[in-house]
Amino acid sequence: MEKFVVHGGSSLSGNVNISGSKNASLPILAATLLTREQCVIRRVPDVSDTNYMLQILHNLGAEVERASGNVIIKCERIRGHEAPYDLVRKMRASVCVMGPLLARHNRADVSLPGGCVIGDRPIDLHLRGLEGLGAEVTVEGGNVHLEARYGLNGDTLDMAGKNGATVLGTDNVMMAAVLAKGTTVINGAACEPEVVDLANFLIAMGAKISGAGTPRIEIEGVSELGGVEHTVIPDRIEAGTFLVAGAMAAPEGITLRRVNPEHLSSVTEVLEQCGCEIQQSEKSMTIQQAKNPVGANITTEPYPGFPTDMQAQMCALFATTPGLSVVKDTIFPQRFMHASEMKRMGANIEVSDGTAVINGVEQLSAAPVMASDLRASAALLLAGLTAKGATEISRVYHIDRGYEHIDDKLIGLGAEIERLPA
Ligand code: EPU
Repeated sequence: MEKFVVHGGSSLSGNVNISGSKNASLPILAATLLTREQCVIRRVPDVSDTNYMLQILHNLGAEVERASGNVIIKCERIRGHEAPYDLVRKMRASVCVMGPLLARHNRADVSLPGGCVIGDRPIDLHLRGLEGLGAEVTVEGGNVHLEARYGLNGDTLDMAGKNGATVLGTDNVMMAAVLAKGTTVINGAACEPEVVDLANFLIAMGAKISGAGTPRIEIEGVSELGGVEHTVIPDRIEAGTFLVAGAMAAPEGITLRRVNPEHLSSVTEVLEQCGCEIQQSEKSMTIQQAKNPVGANITTEPYPGFPTDMQAQMCALFATTPGLSVVKDTIFPQRFMHASEMKRMGANIEVSDGTAVINGVEQLSAAPVMASDLRASAALLLAGLTAKGATEISRVYHIDRGYEHIDDKLIGLGAEIERLPA
């Protein structure tokens, strides 16, 4: 195990390249199961979650090659239909092999993901959608078994749940429906850019999909899909995390390159409200720390609203922004593990009912803290950048799940971070 030691107080400046999106890569890698032909996927970030997905595909019989951000996959012969518990428990997104396996083999066995620190994460909506296409679902011994003995048939489905749309649920059903007989309509579909990227990948393979990026997706089933080359969209959450780093510690500004500013409008709107100056071009963004920062109130929502995956990082910013800020997470109301760790650094944060009320203090002070999940770890790293002293963050494997070389990228901007054996 490794830990980070973050020496607070450095100013950030310069440029950083944003990686390809983790959350777009995962379902796209799973979608390669839908064809016997070779797929080349570019800009897949080298993070442990994409490695877990490649392990699952390899176990299923895929030929996988990986070199400098490009992944070449050929799922010519699939020798199973199973995603085992030891991989699913490491990465919940493993469930997105369900849709493609069902479409290709009329069968999928996937271990049910348990709860996780960001809250209860059921897959009832995934299963409801796949049942709607004709799969029989049984749950036994912690595994979900799906079978469509006579193949899948398109239908009109309502995928919305009590907390809104489901991203990976929409992905799963879309991947199953592309090879189903007839037309599928997904109402209440997730509109996230990662869903659109998957739809574009499937369309390039020969699928007939319209409406991705809106709450109504229509899919006309085809009998076969082919190989394709695709470049994954930039990671909007990694970009958002670097924007917050700039908002906290870049009086002269930092520039993010290889981003899509359109995907970040809800984040930039809040950062501008807080007093930061942001300039954008087609593929780059420059942010400068506010001269007179003020707090803000945010509520997480499905895209294009404020992303839950940026909530923890905003808490880090607000912890040292003068005045009161209120952060409400409606998607994962229990996703506030970072708050108690930040309190150990002197933050004034009270959390109840999925809402954090933060009264900004002048400066945090370094303390040993523990990373609990991906975005909470990023928030602690951000908090450490401006804290007084050396913040030790243990369990950094959480951050390595979804950020490609975040320590090296921050060091490149002038931060002082050591990665040490814990
Ligand atoms: N939900 C249900 N039933 C379901 C599925 C979801 O009730 O069957 C609820 C969830 O409990 C939650 C809401 O619906 O309240 C939205 O969850 P969603 O299914 O959209 O989450 P996900 O698809 O499992 C993806 C991202 C998450 C991100 C969420 C929300 C990937 C691999 N993961 O998860 O990313 O927080 O969408 O935007 O794409 C992260 O990157 O740190 C991360 C957790």
